[in-house]
Amino acid sequence: MYVSNLSLHDFRSYTELVLALDPGVIAFVGHNGQGKTNIVEAVAYLGTFTSHRVASDAALVRHGTGGAVIRAKAVRDGRETLVELEIVAGRANRARLNRAPVSRTRDVMGIVRSVVFAPEDLELVKGDPQARRRFLDDLVVLLTPRLAGVRSEYDKILRQRGALLKSAGAARRRGGGPDLTTLDVWDGHLAAAGAELIAARIELVQRLRPHVARAYEEVSAGQEEAVLGYRCALLAVDGEGEAGPDDEAALTDVPALTERLVAAMARLRTKELERGVSLVGPHRDDLVLTLGGLPVRGYASHGESWSFALALRLASYEVLRDDGGSPVLILDDVFAELDTRRRTRLAAMVADAEQVLITAAVPEDVPDQLEGARFTVAGGEVTRE
Ligand SMILES: Nc1ncnc2c1ncn2[C@@H]1O[C@H](COP(=O)(O)OP(=O)(O)OP(=O)(O)O)[C@@H](O)[C@H]1O
Ligand SMILES: [Mg+2]
Repeated sequence: MYVSNLSLHDFRSYTELVLALDPGVIAFVGHNGQGKTNIVEAVAYLGTFTSHRVASDAALVRHGTGGAVIRAKAVRDGRETLVELEIVAGRANRARLNRAPVSRTRDVMGIVRSVVFAPEDLELVKGDPQARRRFLDDLVVLLTPRLAGVRSEYDKILRQRGALLKSAGAARRRGGGPDLTTLDVWDGHLAAAGAELIAARIELVQRLRPHVARAYEEVSAGQEEAVLGYRCALLAVDGEGEAGPDDEAALTDVPALTERLVAAMARLRTKELERGVSLVGPHRDDLVLTLGGLPVRGYASHGESWSFALALRLASYEVLRDDGGSPVLILDDVFAELDTRRRTRLAAMVADAEQVLITAAVPEDVPDQLEGARFTVAGGEVTRE
């Protein structure tokens, strides 16, 4: 698919922006802080309602205004769909599909699909597990928008269960016998939503795995094999480590997994009451990246880490493409970060995407293989060359 029209209203630095876009390569070129990333961020936001730059929506709304609107026309196999999203900080988004309001905003999720490559991606490899969980969950939601509901439900249950563990733990320390029947109910809720998320993540890891290995090899021309694993906190409770192939199969059986999570919470009850936190569930899991058998985090060189991050994004792109056609590829300021060899390889690998949006500070940062349309971005004005 590609985006043929994009308009922004009070989004980030833009009061009003209207762009007509073609398929193929489009570069947005301009000095720092001129609003290049803001444009591609808007396109990416439509897929998962998350931004690669901020955790909260407040920064997306133009400062001093009440709400932002992103409007995009997606073209897929010649069919046009108009997606409109209104972002009001602190409130749920409102969405329209082909000008008709939708009852659930997730009905428009995943219509504009994209994969973003950005300097922040290094965090995927070097940063906390949270960044990797988010990587998996964003992709899970793009592939199965229904799971966006499960994801937010899980977060809500986790917060409520945490509060309950804290108050029950405090009551117990005061010598009282807290009523734990409510907690039992929350265990069930957490396990049910958690099992769906874990199963979806593992299925995704299985789909990504061969693509990551191949993409890493192509990007780095390296000798080491890039391998993905899933570390499941449940297995640690059960006295096992990372998920092996048999575990992975078992962890995708949602009803069985739900029961195992409930049982693990029963065993962890005393510890959880002492610490006041939920110790098992997808929020404690991690995507494990290894290179030649060693964990990437802490061992890999800067260049290897970059190649791994690129391989994860390229693999996402392949998985989405297999699932339902080429997503929009967004390369936000990445070429400046790469050496010539990786630059050339990445350019060659993405050249056949249906639409590629590139941001760069100077035209020389855009590799020659990616010739295409160019917009200059300066002082909030976006002009086609
Ligand atoms: N909510 C907002 N309201 C008003 N202005 C904003 C908002 N969020 C960001 N900006 C402004 O947008 C500009 C940054 O835009 P953007 O990140 O797109 O720049 P860029 O062209 O990608 O720069 P770089 O080359 O450094 O990556 C900054 O000047 C920032 O102050
Ligand atoms: Mg930028």
